[in-house]
Amino acid sequence: MSTPVSVSVRIPAKVNAQLAVGGLRPDGFHDLANVFLAVGLYDEVTVTPADSLRITASGPDAAQIPLDGTNLAARAAVALAARHGIEPDVHIHIAKDIPVAGGMAGGSADGAGALLACDALWRLNSTQDELLAICAELGSDVPFNLIGGAALGRGRGEILTPLDVRGPFHWVFAVADGGLSTPAVYRECDRLREASGSGATTADIPDPEPAPVLIEALASGDARALAAALSNDLQPAALSLRPSLAETLRAGTDAGALAALVSGSGPTCAFLAGSAEEAEKIADAVLASGTCRTTRVTTSPAPGATILPA
Ligand code: C5P
Repeated sequence: MSTPVSVSVRIPAKVNAQLAVGGLRPDGFHDLANVFLAVGLYDEVTVTPADSLRITASGPDAAQIPLDGTNLAARAAVALAARHGIEPDVHIHIAKDIPVAGGMAGGSADGAGALLACDALWRLNSTQDELLAICAELGSDVPFNLIGGAALGRGRGEILTPLDVRGPFHWVFAVADGGLSTPAVYRECDRLREASGSGATTADIPDPEPAPVLIEALASGDARALAAALSNDLQPAALSLRPSLAETLRAGTDAGALAALVSGSGPTCAFLAGSAEEAEKIADAVLASGTCRTTRVTTSPAPGATILPA
């Protein structure tokens, strides 16, 4: 068989249905019970043989994407090539549709996508476990982008157990102007815990646990039960750093959202709706409130990283 000219992979965004944050560990990370849910907004990563590694990007938010070696897609190609003693000479093109502002693992998605695409382009036939190990080196959220669906992430989020999930669940995402730094949000979470007198280390904070009602709601496809169980321990920290997000959340609640929460470390806000029609209505109302840059409507679950037909 001849070497393929290029390989394209589609990767989903995520929302955190539960983000339970344990204490600060000695290595600077936090133990999590992180219930990931893939949603139907996708980036497409295409890799093509080239003289040397380079990245391009397209899409409305393309100008905000780093096109150097810090991009997780570039780091994925370098890590995979190094493991096999080959050069990462590849042109990576990112067709970006996942909002860049943050909280939806868009950068992580591109890392997972580039990894799977390069593995196919270079005909390395890595096992999923081998790819997941490289994903975990790239970032705490990257392994989930590879598998999609729904999963519980333990450790710093990289140790995954797939979860049963039915759907569709209808979501609205409100994309803020400008991002929030994930390390800064975790630091603010620690600061708020210290300030409240509870302490912030693993010695002070109980181990984070997944909520059984949430796991059941995902498996049953019951949107109202899911709405009641959604939670995010990083939300107070995100709101502390960006108080205006409270107005965005309120706009969605006022418009009839079953639940409103910050997605991951934010600043993207997520709203669970009772139906596709409700989702459109909430998206229009949140946009009209003037409290965000744009809104997106989609459903979950969504499949993980998928190689597209040539
Ligand atoms: O793994 P990732 O590169 O996405 O993490 C970015 C930063 O977020 C880490 O350097 C750390 O400050 C914070 N983080 C954390 N605990 C986690 C995941 C991330 O403190 N479980």
